[in-house]
Amino acid sequence: MVGLFSLIAASSLAAQSLPMPNTKPAPGNEIRPAPPHQMVYRPEVYYQLECGGCHLADGEGERKNDIPRMKDFVGHFLSVEGGREFLVQVPGSAYSSFADDQLAELINWIITDGIAGTSKPEEFTPYTAEEVAALRAQPLGKVEETRDVLLDRMRAKDIAIHDGLKDRP
Ligand code: HEC
Repeated sequence: MVGLFSLIAASSLAAQSLPMPNTKPAPGNEIRPAPPHQMVYRPEVYYQLECGGCHLADGEGERKNDIPRMKDFVGHFLSVEGGREFLVQVPGSAYSSFADDQLAELINWIITDGIAGTSKPEEFTPYTAEEVAALRAQPLGKVEETRDVLLDRMRAKDIAIHDGLKDRP
């Protein structure tokens, strides 16, 4: 009996998840869009698609959700040892759905084209897809601890911590 019930339950669930046999896509919607990693967009669109929801449109961040400010700050990571790796290995970057070349382009854009703003380093070697691939292959174990170490390295260089999160010295 139990087997019969679960068979009925399973088949009605399956039926619900299937489209009606005569269902057609709405006009103009016949072609399913490809996932982002197969698309070519401008980097600011990549940002809007997968980053801006947390980091907000201009990288302002949101303290109440523990999202650090990238605006005028994120570039400082490139001034300390380990920071270049961190920008790729941080979960928001590494686990985005983007392909390695897209992620390289996106982070290069963040640094050079606006969001890093006043924190943009004087010299910057753009990330390549190969560098991003190698870094993504080594996930960051302890994100917060790593970030704190990097912030201490900034303090040691007299860089003010304007990440918008806590009242920082
Ligand atoms: C779910 C929210 C969320 C999304 C989506 C997200 N991030 Fe983040 N991001 C964070 C948080 C929180 C941190 C702070 C470090 C941590 O705890 O991961 C962070 C830190 C960063 C940092 C390091 C800066 C710092 O001050 O720590 C970079 C660079 C970054 N994110 C890039 C991105 C990019 C690029 C995307 C989109 C592909 C993205 N993030 C999407 C939440 C997010």
